[in-house]
Amino acid sequence: MKHQENITQYYNINAKSYIKETINIDMSENFDKFMGILPSNGAILDVGSGSGRDLKRFSERKRFATGIDISQELVNAAQEYSGCQVRLKSVLDLNEDSAYAGIWCCASLLHLTNDEFIKALKVMYIALEDNGVILISVKKGDKETIDALGRYMNYYQEDFIKKEAVKVGLEEIDFWETPHAIASRNESFITFIFKKNII
Ligand SMILES: C[S@@+](CC[C@H](N)C(=O)[O-])C[C@H]1O[C@@H](n2cnc3c(N)ncnc32)[C@H](O)[C@@H]1O
Repeated sequence: MKHQENITQYYNINAKSYIKETINIDMSENFDKFMGILPSNGAILDVGSGSGRDLKRFSERKRFATGIDISQELVNAAQEYSGCQVRLKSVLDLNEDSAYAGIWCCASLLHLTNDEFIKALKVMYIALEDNGVILISVKKGDKETIDALGRYMNYYQEDFIKKEAVKVGLEEIDFWETPHAIASRNESFITFIFKKNII
């Protein structure tokens, strides 16, 4: 089975337990930094919106936000929880131009291979408005593996992400490292904010 199908199947089968585990995670640090840099108008796209936790928060801040996800179960759940539109779509099939002031990728690009990650960066760059910002949060490391839950997982090196982002035309605005929000997982996340500058 290709890993994208593996991911879709995992989240469809485990949607309820996954939502229970993640819906109350406090994303304030990422959220506040992103909101602090986000242009004051314009739509937000949540890539891999999961439970809908962050869509709800964007909406409570009076921002127009929509999501995409490759699990139908999570699409339905996120839509119901947040009241925002969520489409069944892979980031790899994103084909919009200058549509978003902000793109939020919280723990979603970690299910892509390096080649897919580069493709995702290119299509997200096109989908961003000038001066738009993108947040990317992934697990830190240097390996691809099937994790303890059976999911394909890519652990990224900081330099790889920075180098590829600059190549597509993004400017690095911020970077930080944090332990996994679920303390029992002995892992850390690296989070980046990039900006699309007017050329
Ligand atoms: C680890 S969960 C993170 C969910 C949510 N962003 C959060 O922080 O709680 C990964 C999410 O990304 C979605 N996903 C994985 N690959 C994707 C892709 N290629 N395009 C869009 N969503 C994807 C999964 O279905 C799942 O909802």
